[in-house]
Amino acid sequence: MGRKILLEHIDVPGIQTLDVYRKMGGYNAVTKAIKNMSADEIVEEVKKSGLRGRGGAGFPTGMKWSFLDKKSDKPRYLVCNADESEPGTFKDRYLMEKLPHILIEGMICSSYALGANTSYIYVRGEMMYVIKILEKAIQEAYQAGFLGKNILGSDYSLDLYVQPGGGAYICGEETALLESLEGKRGNPRNKPPFPALWGLYGCPTVVNNVETIADVPWIINNGGEAYAGIGIGKSTGTKLISACGNINKPGVYEIELGISVEEFLNSDEYCGGIANGRKLKAVVAGGSSVPILPADLILTTANGEKRLMTYESLGDGGFVSGTMLGSGGFIVYDDQQCIVRNLWNFTRFYHHESCGQCSPCREGTGWMEKVLHRIENGHGKLSDIDLLVDVAKKIEGKTICPLGEAAAWPVASAIRHFRADFEEHVRNPDSCVKKHLHREMAHAH
Ligand SMILES: Cc1cc2nc3c(=O)[nH]c(=O)nc-3n(C[C@H](O)[C@H](O)[C@H](O)COP(=O)(O)O)c2cc1C
Repeated sequence: MGRKILLEHIDVPGIQTLDVYRKMGGYNAVTKAIKNMSADEIVEEVKKSGLRGRGGAGFPTGMKWSFLDKKSDKPRYLVCNADESEPGTFKDRYLMEKLPHILIEGMICSSYALGANTSYIYVRGEMMYVIKILEKAIQEAYQAGFLGKNILGSDYSLDLYVQPGGGAYICGEETALLESLEGKRGNPRNKPPFPALWGLYGCPTVVNNVETIADVPWIINNGGEAYAGIGIGKSTGTKLISACGNINKPGVYEIELGISVEEFLNSDEYCGGIANGRKLKAVVAGGSSVPILPADLILTTANGEKRLMTYESLGDGGFVSGTMLGSGGFIVYDDQQCIVRNLWNFTRFYHHESCGQCSPCREGTGWMEKVLHRIENGHGKLSDIDLLVDVAKKIEGKTICPLGEAAAWPVASAIRHFRADFEEHVRNPDSCVKKHLHREMAHAH
């Protein structure tokens, strides 16, 4: 069995309640942090741990925390990004639903380390049931004296609020999230200034992912070095991976960073192999925004090395032959899947979710969607394939926020690795349209 840091107690009956969570050692980190550690000591431990942001970009958490403007006399804020709307990513929802107190304990420890007296958990608005679970758990934490004034008799006080999100994927981008939290339309801000200097209400703010924050209590209890001892190289610790698609065991798994992709895909502890005895065609390893890789390149790098579940190994080969760990949304396609149809579906999502501020993203996502739609429906031309590559290039790097790249990379990578599938759609439209119709009718029955 692989190492568990977050999900160790997931099957303990009643673990959602504060009483059971405490029996399993819960809230020991709050006591240790507030009674025995200074804020700077905690930041130091998080730096030593090598923990990297689990929201997608993998930025070192301790370093991000140390950028917080300490000279400012304005209030500081910690905001937890629980907006989770990336197609294929459903690990934060699982964690909050099953283990709400681990996030609350992490929020208290992290807020103390950052000197924040008011903190927020910004939860995707559609996940109302999760919001209710969190609110109940927060109430329990107040009653037990872990939140509110003078926590555990110290001079540290913290109020923690849950904020339902604005119902848009873009509100997961950290500055759009802050705008939305301030009550405005969730449009990303120009950066710099970054939130560490100019965040919520213009005050120094740290925005971190749910999983990132939930890792902090373990680091406080066991030390940064112990955390850094798990995983490989700069990919320390464990990672939650939400696995879906054509596999035998879809679900959320905690892996030690550094296991091979092959093990994750085929072992019974995780995905359990490709469903229905079919062959692997492709994998999107880190949520819909990262480049798709064909079977050979997801299992082995272009240099013939075993591909590992780490930031570095998945990134090996850059965007020519590599991808990203991203948010850990692992989507598996078998050899019956249509790459064009799946890509059209993703692109339709990005077009719908573009906030519209930047013309390349607002217009480009729409163009890509239209062109993919006509290829998929048998009206495409061969020149459309290069047109898609061209439009994707014109979005990438030309927008305020990375939603532009998130929309462009899947298109560019799908064409790089599966050009023959696109050409087949153009040359032999009937076979594709009929195949989809046949499969949809089979599903309907
Ligand atoms: C369009 C878009 C959506 C995003 N959605 C999320 C999200 O739902 N959750 C998340 O943690 N990060 C999301 N991010 C990344 C955040 O901007 C930010 O990098 C992250 O919350 C930082 O936390 P971390 O350092 O702990 O990873 C998104 C980014 C973009 C561009």
